[in-house]
Formats: sequence, structure tokens, C-alpha cells
Amino acid sequence: MADIKKVGVLGCGLMGSGIAQIAAQAGYETIVREVEQSMIDRGFGGIQKSLGRFVEKGTLTAEQRDASVARLKGTTKLEELADCDIIIEAIVENIDIKKEAYGILDKICKKETIFSSNTSSLTITELSMATTRPKQFVGLHFFNPVPLMKLVEVVRTILTSDEAFNRTFEFARSLGKEPVAARDNSGFIVNRLLVPYLLDAIRALEEGVGSIEDIDKAMKLGCGYPMGPFTLLDFVGLDTTYYITQIMFEEYREKRFAAPPLLRKMVLAGRYGKKSGAGFYDHSGSAPVAMDKKG
Ligand code: CAA
Ligand code: NAD
Repeated sequence: MADIKKVGVLGCGLMGSGIAQIAAQAGYETIVREVEQSMIDRGFGGIQKSLGRFVEKGTLTAEQRDASVARLKGTTKLEELADCDIIIEAIVENIDIKKEAYGILDKICKKETIFSSNTSSLTITELSMATTRPKQFVGLHFFNPVPLMKLVEVVRTILTSDEAFNRTFEFARSLGKEPVAARDNSGFIVNRLLVPYLLDAIRALEEGVGSIEDIDKAMKLGCGYPMGPFTLLDFVGLDTTYYITQIMFEEYREKRFAAPPLLRKMVLAGRYGKKSGAGFYDHSGSAPVAMDKKG
């Protein structure tokens, strides 16, 4: 299999923009596909902001920032990903939309191209069957915020070849990440443990155990977590979390993966978290304000 030189990223949302950023920072020619130019502009705005923070901190020079940006290209045309050596898909957590994109890419990408998915909860086996190349299909699960979080779960199915898995594992290392191997079970390692915890926090709120701020404070100060569960839920996206629960509950049929009614209502009300300006907290002001805060 040829060296990885050109990286194609599908989706320039929260995760796709971060993945494209670190690929370009690591020296890869990177092309990102979105459905609309406005989404590319929004994603690239986030990338500029993130690179700017690294420059301010002194961990990246202005020259390195400019060279990273020069390696990045946005497009709305899937065909422009045809000559990529690896595709990293980071679009909405919906099996039909992902399968449709893979079906098209399978036809236009060269036969050596490795396909990978950043899915949080779908099985890689199911996604890989939308293509004619399940041997070259790997899970590559990054964590939010991608430029800072060290871990990547690299997932193989029973059909993934050793070569494709090993190359993807090394590719993850080349991005400056610490890869771990995970089996193709819905949620892999981290979300299998993290999702029930986040859903339990919502159930605790529904039961009146504590306020949003107090539950967050308790888990931060009591357990040393960097963010409380509601801050993290707003950060991950309540829409994405809801889609994840639908998939994991369908897979395992266990109550711990079921969406609490409040999560569904938040999504129905358009409160998706930080990305939409409000979730469990209102993020429109200078500091987040919890939605259950009186006064
Ligand atoms: N790019 C570059 N720099 C960034 C950045 C970004 N996107 N975001 C934050 N920073 C920088 C800040 O500028 C700040 O720099 P200084 O140290 O120079 O001040 C530093 O990182 C720390 O940021 P903050 O002070 O804003 O906040 P923090 O100390 O809480 O750290 C954090 C931020 C690393 C995100 C930390 O809060 C954290 O680890 N949170 C938990 C995140 C987590 O659990 N992610 C996993 C989510 S689940 C998932 O991803 C899987 C899934 O499938 C759903
Ligand atoms: P997001 O809603 O921020 O972004 C998804 C983007 O995909 C949108 O900008 C949308 O326009 C775009 N899109 C939809 N269909 C497309 C297509 N056919 N081609 C190109 N772009 C398309 O979502 P996100 O949080 O970035 O999540 C993306 C994926 O990453 C999901 O599978 C999610 O489960 C996974 N993930 C999310 C997190 C997280 O913390 N949010 C962490 C790890 C993995």
C-alpha cells in the first residue's frame, strides 16, 4: 500500500474541522468536503482560531501556522477527494447519510484509498458494507477538541486487513496522537463508559439530585474531571449525543444507553449545546449561564 500523502476529510463541523487541522499541521495535504460553502467558512474560522491559540501559547510559530493553512483546502465537490490516500469521515451520526457518502466515494476513489470513520457509536462493520473495500475500512475515533485530546481509538472489524489496520494505526501516531486498538463494538472503549455516565447526569438532574452547576462542580472538584457532565454535554453537542443514544440503545437494549426524556426535549427545542449558542447552559454571554438558574 502506498504512503499516505493526501488526506480527505468528510464534514467540517466540530470534529471534521479539528481532524483537518491536525492533518494539515502534521504536514499532510488535506482536503475537506462539506455540503455548503458556508459550513466550510465556519469550520475554517474555527481552525484559524485554534491555530492562533497555539501561536499565542508559543507551541506553533506563525510560519508553521501559515504552512498548515496553505496545506488545507475546502470543497463542496466529493469528486475532489478521488486521489486521497485516506478518507476520514466525520459527518452527522446517521447511518443512511454516512452510507450514501461512502457508496459514492467507493466509486470515485482510487482502489488503494483507505476508508475510515470517526463515528461515535455506529459499527465499522455496518459502514464498511456500504463499500466494496471492507478490508481497507477502519474506525478512527478522535476526541473533542481534536487539536488537544491525545487519544485516537483505531478500530478493526473481522474483515479489516492487518495492513490497513497497521497503516492507519501508524497514521494516527503521525498526527501526534496516542492510538489504542479497540474492537468493533458500538461505542468502542470510551463511549461505552462515557455515554452512560453523561446520561446518568441528566437523569440525576431530572430527579432533582442537584442543580446543573452543582452537579458539574461536584464531578469537577470531587473527581478531578476537567469538565462537569453538563459542560461536556454542551461541548459534545446534545444532537450528536441524542443520535449516539439511539444507536447504542438499539444495539445493546440496555437502559443505561437510553436517552432520558429531557435530552430528547432539549434536542426538539433546538438546544444543541455550545454550537447552537445554548444547551444546558446559555452560551450567548461572556460566561455560560445554567438554564435552571433562577433570577
Ligand atoms: N485549539 C487550541 N487550543 C485550545 C483549544 C483548541 N480547540 N481549546 C482550548 N485550547 C487551549 C486554551 O487556549 C488554553 O490555553 P492556555 O493553557 O494557554 O490558557 C488551554 O487549551 C486550556 O483551555 P481552557 O483553559 O479553555 O480550558 P481547560 O483547561 O478546561 O481545557 C479541555 C480544555 C482540554 C477541553 C479540557 O476541559 C478537557 O479535557 N475537557 C474534557 C474534554 C473531553 O472529555 N472530551 C471528550 C469528549 S467525548 C468525545 O469526544 C467522543 C465522542 O464520540 C462523543
Ligand atoms: P457536527 O454536527 O458538528 O458536524 C457534522 C457536519 O457534517 C455538518 O457540518 C454537516 O454539514 C456535515 N455533513 C453532513 N452530511 C455531509 C456530507 N455528505 N458530506 C460532507 N459533510 C456533510 O458533528 P460532529 O460533532 O463534528 O460529529 C461528526 C461525527 O463525529 C459524528 O459521527 C459524531 O458521532 C462523531 N464524533 C463526535 C464527537 C463530538 O464530541 N461531537 C466526538 C467524536 C466523534
